[in-house]
Amino acid sequence: MKLVTAVVQPHRLDDVKEALTGLGMAGLTVTEVSGHGAQKGHAEVYRGAEYRVDFRPKVRVDVVVSDADLEAVLDAVTEAARTGRIGDGKIWATDLVEVVRVRTGERGESAV
Ligand SMILES: Nc1ncnc2c1ncn2[C@@H]1O[C@H](COP(=O)(O)OP(=O)(O)OP(=O)(O)O)[C@@H](O)[C@H]1O
Ligand SMILES: [Mg+2]
Repeated sequence: MKLVTAVVQPHRLDDVKEALTGLGMAGLTVTEVSGHGAQKGHAEVYRGAEYRVDFRPKVRVDVVVSDADLEAVLDAVTEAARTGRIGDGKIWATDLVEVVRVRTGERGESAV
């Protein structure tokens, strides 16, 4: 299992969610976050205005996926989040040791 974390532009969240749903991904966690990338928060254009602050508002999407779904999820989220401008976001994936569905006690792939 992998944890895919995508930090994307807030206005792309609906498209990212639809892309994940379209792939059959059932669960996800969404968090409002702030951060910066290579530009260190400067010179990013947000809603037509150039911001000069250190951190930009982003949305973080965490989704646990099976190994077999990883590549499709990375491609789908990338496509859904991209506008082609700086600050579009970043996606990373990490190996997961264990997943538990609390209601049933299921573990591993069947708990995803
Ligand atoms: N190396 C990183 N580690 C942790 N979070 C990051 C990293 N890079 C980017 N992020 C997060 O992703 C958000 C979006 O990053 P961003 O799209 O600006 O990346 P970038 O590498 O600067 O690419 P671009 O040049 O397209 O802007 C940041 O606001 C930050 O929250
Ligand atoms: Mg950037």
